[in-house]
Amino acid sequence: MSTMAPLVRLPILFAWAAAALAPLESAAAGPAAPTPAYRDPSAPAEVRAEDLLSRLTLDEKLVMLGGTGFTTQPISRLGLPAFIMSDGPVGARNSGPTTAYPAGIALAASWDAPLAGRIGAAIGRDCRARGVHILLGPGINLYREPLSGRNFEYFGEDPLLSGKTAAAYIRGVQSRGVAATVKHYALNNQEFNRHEVSSDADERTIRELYLRAFQIAIRDAGPKAAMCSYNPVNGVHASQNRWLNVDVLKGEFGFTGLLMSDWESCYDTAGMANGGLDLEMPTAKLYEPARVKALVDSGAVPVGAIDDKVRRQLRIAFEMHWLDRVQEDRSIPKDDPSSAAAALDAARAGLVLLKNSGGLLPLDPAKLRRIVLLGPNADHPVTGGGGSSWAQPFHAPSVAEAIRALLPQGVELAVIPWKAGALPDASALQGMKGADAAILCVGFDFPGVRPAGPDAGRAWGGPGILFVAPPEAEGEGGDRAYALPPGCAELIRTVASVNPRTVVVLNAGGSVETAPWIGGAAALVHAFYGGQGGATALAEVLFGRINPSGRLPFSWERRLEDCPAYGHFPTRDHPRSNDYREGLLMGYRGFDAKGVEPLFPFGFGLSYTRFELSRLRAEKAASGEIRLTVDVRNAGSRAGSEVVEVYAESGRPEAGRPPRELKAYGKIFLKPGQAESMVLSLNPADLATWDAAGHTWVPAAGKLTLRAGEHSRDLPLRVDLTL
Ligand code: BGC
Repeated sequence: MSTMAPLVRLPILFAWAAAALAPLESAAAGPAAPTPAYRDPSAPAEVRAEDLLSRLTLDEKLVMLGGTGFTTQPISRLGLPAFIMSDGPVGARNSGPTTAYPAGIALAASWDAPLAGRIGAAIGRDCRARGVHILLGPGINLYREPLSGRNFEYFGEDPLLSGKTAAAYIRGVQSRGVAATVKHYALNNQEFNRHEVSSDADERTIRELYLRAFQIAIRDAGPKAAMCSYNPVNGVHASQNRWLNVDVLKGEFGFTGLLMSDWESCYDTAGMANGGLDLEMPTAKLYEPARVKALVDSGAVPVGAIDDKVRRQLRIAFEMHWLDRVQEDRSIPKDDPSSAAAALDAARAGLVLLKNSGGLLPLDPAKLRRIVLLGPNADHPVTGGGGSSWAQPFHAPSVAEAIRALLPQGVELAVIPWKAGALPDASALQGMKGADAAILCVGFDFPGVRPAGPDAGRAWGGPGILFVAPPEAEGEGGDRAYALPPGCAELIRTVASVNPRTVVVLNAGGSVETAPWIGGAAALVHAFYGGQGGATALAEVLFGRINPSGRLPFSWERRLEDCPAYGHFPTRDHPRSNDYREGLLMGYRGFDAKGVEPLFPFGFGLSYTRFELSRLRAEKAASGEIRLTVDVRNAGSRAGSEVVEVYAESGRPEAGRPPRELKAYGKIFLKPGQAESMVLSLNPADLATWDAAGHTWVPAAGKLTLRAGEHSRDLPLRVDLTL
């Protein structure tokens, strides 16, 4: 991004500041030695990497194959510093408080790639403020079923939405001189027994869905790093899966960056060394130098494989100019107002209004006298899910505080404290009767298991632990319950029975069981985990300062059994196998193929205004891309943003093909009455399908039908073209 370039280039003025900190091996007397090529900031990264590689001994190279916690290994003899890593993906979280951004699922719900770019750039700046070289994000595993404990970190069920969101985020991060890490490669779609459960899927499914998000992100943004997943894929652990890593990632996808392990995801030294794993994290156990050396000596691992791993580490360092400047930029405040503003804007854009009976929302502050607020997540901030992504914000209001800050004087806000499992008593219920609205904040959190400090959130599910999350929690290391935490459904029903103006606000990484309570909720807002600005954004939406514009990045089933993957993802009874037998018919692809009505379709979300879409047209541009134009008019009385979604109909009716798939989308802000033509571009490569028999990609050819509309089940516009 050209606007970002000065940030990357300027610090080159400090060339060799870093190297000056790391003394060279010797400074022998005599005539000055020529400057080695790797020290020349103007030399191409490839040349510098090759030069430095040639100066390393085998022992030094072997040391570089393992980390030291959250850093790479320095080689001080040659002035090579350690490169610092940080989780990721919702904040530069490893060194104390930081700006906490909305969870990935909320960012995806914005359907706004430029916004994802802004978030990436803001996190990149936060990294620079902390001297971080490598951000361990974004996570782009697909949302295959609602229970997967890390769905909240990812970008939903569709590979195009995930890939485009990721690409924008990665470009943003890397524009700040920080490497982004796409993770977890690959098919880590559950947390349950994640070291053991093999993700077993056919190649077409793997390529068209689960790898496609990675493929798009790599093609469109060139992430400098990738992280493998814990799980085996078709029986072979990802960290030693040669097909995944060498043949596909580094071969077909052309990934030139550094492939690191997940933390403690290594199982076999020779398998990893020959299977494409460049760096073992957090420390060298399987890549303990003597172990690797023995394999090199015996010929089981070629020296060339070691060189390739080290070369990748060096190459990204030179591409990012890490040896040419000090990575920590002290001019950037750690609690950066521009980051806070980006976090708040993303929280605003990702909220999804799912139900709004009788136009209950927005509540008009001028007409209110009394609001009741209750539920487990009402009076403390719920900013993120649990696990390695947990970021401790500098400041984050609770929903109660955010609403109080926004309500005019004279409007009473009655906050009823939550007592786990206990329903409000009769006098509290009496007080709710006449309230203008009852706002119930329900969903997951991880109270009581949230330690302070840099490892906050890493609370459960260590290596080898077969963990089932407590019913209140959602986070890494365990899969969650489908039902709301104990007491929530009863609370909604009870409150709704005395006050029909009941607004349910949900914190979760995806869908939850709704049957017991949805009838009582006059309005439903999916708030996901909105980061530090989540509560403020929510209050703004409830009271009409912000018009909601988020759309679901996943399908919401009426009952868990309707989820296409239901019955064959791992549980305590079937702890070892994850059988992807629904194939391509995952998420909306499956609902559409089987004619099952979701509760809320993929891509769905309400607005306080009304949009009209018309005149979808398509043309092939000289560049080869397909340019789509659609007219959008704000036909309502409030300003707001509209998402246009374009789906391609299957031209190949063979078994197991989804009827239609998302191929383009965009978002536009319009004032009341304003009309604009929106231009979207579609890369024909994204239309290709995998031919399992021929074992190859088949480009789309012949007649193509595209349909556009507001969500996957409402596509009134159509255009046909011939490719
Ligand atoms: C997670 C990774 C994370 C790493 C370092 C692992 O448990 O799976 O996503 O980057 O820890 O914290």
